[in-house]
Amino acid sequence: MALFKKEKTNTPKAPESVAIIMDGNGRWAKRRGLPRSAGHVEGAKNVMNVLRELRSRGVHHVTLYAFSTENWKRPDDEVLALMDIFAQYADKIIARSKTDEEQFTVKFLGDKSRLPERVREKCVAAEEATAGHPFVCNIALNYGGRDEIVHAANAALADGHTVLSEEILSRYMYTALSPDPDLVIRTGGEFRISNFLLWQSAYSEFVITDTLWPDFDGAELEKCISEFNKRTRRFGGLNPEDSESKV
Ligand code: IPE
Ligand code: IPE
Ligand code: MG
Repeated sequence: MALFKKEKTNTPKAPESVAIIMDGNGRWAKRRGLPRSAGHVEGAKNVMNVLRELRSRGVHHVTLYAFSTENWKRPDDEVLALMDIFAQYADKIIARSKTDEEQFTVKFLGDKSRLPERVREKCVAAEEATAGHPFVCNIALNYGGRDEIVHAANAALADGHTVLSEEILSRYMYTALSPDPDLVIRTGGEFRISNFLLWQSAYSEFVITDTLWPDFDGAELEKCISEFNKRTRRFGGLNPEDSESKV
């Protein structure tokens, strides 16, 4: 007989929440003899396509890693090119929100205060213009998982909490509007987390593909989701067939 209420262990067909570490833009460009910034332009173009593919498979929450708190270490011209892309992208989202195209809510995760003013203002405007749609796209921009946890703890203390709990801290995370990712995909083949969603990915399934982000498409996504569907999630418990206690 079960003594404790168990977490759900059966894997859903489509994950509700998917996060992607969009890596490999630089290598994509290098292989073509192009500057790294050309890889970032191509990577940004791919975002809307992949969002469409995710939505069509029934995913409701997407979190995309666009720029980490460590990416400021890159050469100034690359950082500048990326900031230009983010500003253009936010403009595109605002323009799109005024049309009949498939709508989504955008939320930028991360410390906006370090972003150039022109980027920060457009990000805030894009968030305001798109509020209220059920399909949510979080874009992690100047985002770091460690920074997020420290930020959340300070914000909770400033609000008068004197003792923190997992539940309280979760409410102060940049991702408070979205469920934890069921699936984290990393393109570009590296087996590491690179300071992404450290808190939220505690029980996420990870799928790593060698495909570089600008080449990641619906077929690649399908492979990642089918890999996800082969996994058995236990959340620290047991598989259903093993859960009848024989101790
Ligand atoms: C990811 O692509 C985009 C950002 C980190 C902004 P990279 O620029 O890291 O591409 P690689 O890893 O050098 O190929
Ligand atoms: C992770 O990629 C950050 C983004 C995709 C935005 P990086 O290229 O910065 O990660 P490392 O340096 O290889 O760990
Ligand atoms: Mg990289």
